[in-house]
Amino acid sequence: MKQSIFLNNDISMPLLGLGVNNIDDERTAATAINSAVTAGYRMIDTAPVYKNEEFIGRAIARCWVPRRDLFIISKVWNTAQRLGDTAGAFERSLERLQLDYVDLFLIQWPVPGCFAATWRTLEKLLSSGKTRAIGVSNFGIRHLEALRKVSGIVPAVNQIECHPLNYESELIDYCKDHDIAVQAYAPLARGAVLDEDIICVIATKYAKTPAQIALRWALQKGLSVIPKSITPERIHANAGIFDFEIEEEDMAIIETMNQHRHFVEKPEDMRG
Ligand SMILES: NC(=O)c1ccc[n+]([C@@H]2O[C@H](COP(=O)([O-])OP(=O)(O)OC[C@H]3O[C@@H](n4cnc5c(N)ncnc54)[C@H](OP(=O)(O)O)[C@@H]3O)[C@@H](O)[C@H]2O)c1
Repeated sequence: MKQSIFLNNDISMPLLGLGVNNIDDERTAATAINSAVTAGYRMIDTAPVYKNEEFIGRAIARCWVPRRDLFIISKVWNTAQRLGDTAGAFERSLERLQLDYVDLFLIQWPVPGCFAATWRTLEKLLSSGKTRAIGVSNFGIRHLEALRKVSGIVPAVNQIECHPLNYESELIDYCKDHDIAVQAYAPLARGAVLDEDIICVIATKYAKTPAQIALRWALQKGLSVIPKSITPERIHANAGIFDFEIEEEDMAIIETMNQHRHFVEKPEDMRG
């Protein structure tokens, strides 16, 4: 199976990345990034709200993989959107990451009344070359439709919560139809999917770990995945998803697990 895809603006994006939410000290960040690049990861997903861009930036600078071979994602948080400060927030992310550019910059949440203006700022960042692609996260069909009315630039990616316990087929089909690559965040349901009987039985059948089954399932659904781990053995094992294939009948069994159950809460300022 291929390990990368072309986004709608023709740049290549790896299908596997390391999520770094909740990595909040420098040593842990360095160990995680070093383990990941050694295991073959080339994509790292961070955000200002994770409060670790500085650590991640230093770990990237020190790792042996050249910057041009890495794919770095960051995002704009809700506060900056509300303040109309997306451009400033982007520059501060670059500074903390100690980078000249990111590969993908996302609107993390569709803040009502703000996200269309935020998108116009992202369009400018794209044309400045400081980000190679722009996209969104946690956007539903109505948010994507709203963007379509005001912009000719289609988001390259929609990063959403997706795992066997939560699969939004209508949204994912919409994204596929509009050439928006879907990226699965919390692809292990923050660990909850790993104790599920169906996943464990299928893991035994393929002599794989439950995490590998959940991640491979998402790949076969056409998604990219950004599992988080700070544990070198898990980081390494989670990369072992390109050398086997889940049969159609097992894919269908995993699909029966869908409960539309979210493990990542909406931020407080997006509720109500
Ligand atoms: N755009 C958004 O709004 C948004 C929201 C949430 C997350 N994200 C992104 O998505 C990334 C991943 O999501 P997530 O961190 O929420 O959840 P996740 O990747 O589904 O799960 C992470 C948890 O699973 C454990 N784990 C990882 N591999 C394992 C394995 N092989 N066996 C057993 N346990 C394993 C990790 O433990 P250890 O670390 O202790 O190994 C950690 O507790 C985030 O880090 C972030 O980059 C984006």
